[in-house]
Amino acid sequence: MRPLVGVFLDTSDLAEIQKFHSIGIVRGVTTNPTILVKGGMTGGWKAIEQHCQAIAKIIHPLPVSIEVTVNQPQEMLRQAQLFVSWASNINVKIPIHGPQGGLENLRLVHSLERDHDIRVNVTAMMSAQQCLLAAMAGATYVSLFGGRVNNMGYDSRLEVRRLRSLLDMFQLSAKIIVGSTREILNIIEWFEAGADIVTTAPSLLDGMLIHPYSKETVQQFLADGARLHAGSA
Ligand code: E4P
Repeated sequence: MRPLVGVFLDTSDLAEIQKFHSIGIVRGVTTNPTILVKGGMTGGWKAIEQHCQAIAKIIHPLPVSIEVTVNQPQEMLRQAQLFVSWASNINVKIPIHGPQGGLENLRLVHSLERDHDIRVNVTAMMSAQQCLLAAMAGATYVSLFGGRVNNMGYDSRLEVRRLRSLLDMFQLSAKIIVGSTREILNIIEWFEAGADIVTTAPSLLDGMLIHPYSKETVQQFLADGARLHAGSA
């Protein structure tokens, strides 16, 4: 039976990463330029380097994905080499193709994995067929944006299931990351559909853990526990 990897955090928030890592439920972190901007990242490359190193240090030796910020192959290669020099557990996110399509990104993915010994997470994918090609090109991780698939009116679970069976049929070792979480239910429904990893916004983990009826039950236990000891020294 294929072992699942588990939950990644899709955030650059150090406090959230620390919080969930300290209870042992995080298996990695993913970021992208939008996440860094939303997290208030400013200060140029030096600040980005320090922040990514801080994430990598908290979760070491678990992996963290950092995404390239440009679309020119030479510059993407330079950024990839720079990112992996920051920490041994950093891998590089490369979008499946550029803003107008094209094969160049996948060529770079292939070369990073094969010639440069750099682990790649191919990102921004909306279909099992894109992920299959990325896996065939040698990507270590293939990231399917399940929430965006649902937003387009398709059922992301079917796409995950199809991808799982394709990777198994071809015996491809790429790990399936499903991200773009929108609802708490996404986390287990994507695991059930065959994801190795679900990368989630931290707030959904809070929602997954805390249940109003559990609160009420614990309140009752505590109140009755206090009654048991009432009057004793
Ligand atoms: C995955 O690695 C991406 O960072 C991500 O989940 C994007 O999600 P979004 O659709 O919320 O931007």
